[in-house]
Amino acid sequence: MNSRIDTGLANPTWDKIDSWMCVLPPSRPSSHQLSLIRSWLEKHDRDAPIGVLGSTPEFVDLLIDLGFQNIIVFEKYLAAYDRMRAFRVHPPFERVVWGDWMHTLPQHLRCFTAILSDLTSGNVPYTHRAQFWDAVRNALSAGGVFIDRVLTGRPSPFCFEAHIESFSDMPINLIAANRFNCEIFFSSDLALPEGIIDTTSFYERIQRHCTSPRLAKLLQLVEKVTPRGCVWWYGKPWNELAPSYFTNYDLLETAAEPRSSWYLDAAYMYLLKCHA
Ligand SMILES: C[S@@+](CC[C@H](N)C(=O)[O-])C[C@H]1O[C@@H](n2cnc3c(N)ncnc32)[C@H](O)[C@@H]1O
Repeated sequence: MNSRIDTGLANPTWDKIDSWMCVLPPSRPSSHQLSLIRSWLEKHDRDAPIGVLGSTPEFVDLLIDLGFQNIIVFEKYLAAYDRMRAFRVHPPFERVVWGDWMHTLPQHLRCFTAILSDLTSGNVPYTHRAQFWDAVRNALSAGGVFIDRVLTGRPSPFCFEAHIESFSDMPINLIAANRFNCEIFFSSDLALPEGIIDTTSFYERIQRHCTSPRLAKLLQLVEKVTPRGCVWWYGKPWNELAPSYFTNYDLLETAAEPRSSWYLDAAYMYLLKCHA
């Protein structure tokens, strides 16, 4: 396989995020999301293999709670796995397949009854996105489902210069820091026109713009949630990406973010099934 497909080697993002417990929903699965997934999975045979893209602790605990016996986590970064595992309820029960999804998924053709994924797409460069979704589809067995949450973006992104003012009198706490992360980094025009979230350059632009001592203090906490040196591929209009996402899938169900979520209409849960 072409080694340029190894999407993560030059991307240290998941080695940088060392304060995972500072990260709150909607950047992680919420109770609402987990109860939906529970209801979608309840009817599945407990011996059926279930794949999880990344180490999302809430997913592995949920699968163990439900009694699934064959849980396979696809992870590339040992540090991320260790940090997330530290917050799990249950001791390790899963098998971990180490490596980049672009390499490991194609080695599991038609294996899984379900694959769970929370905000994985933004970890894959746009140039490899169609191939990634294709690899997920091919890893599902007949009738298998892909349970995914994607960031589709706001119909009109926040203007970061105007929106940042709304943070200037917020109390300095993790809620404000996570809200800043979701709205300024992931839902504003900072990512335009390339559609790339490059936190190092975002911090430089924000700091040039931000003179208030309160915002400067908040930014120190935001850096715990989203460190410098991270890169994600978000911000391109979803209508450009959606056709390749929905190719070869039937959409079974969709769920919007809860009203309390900072992503609101900018993120969706999808339950997708392969064409027969
Ligand atoms: C699924 S994503 C997003 C985080 C998610 N919202 C959560 O709550 O867990 C992050 C996980 O995927 C892993 N990951 C990121 N890119 C990857 C890749 N190309 N191949 C394999 N694992 C990857 C990261 O190390 C991390 O465990």
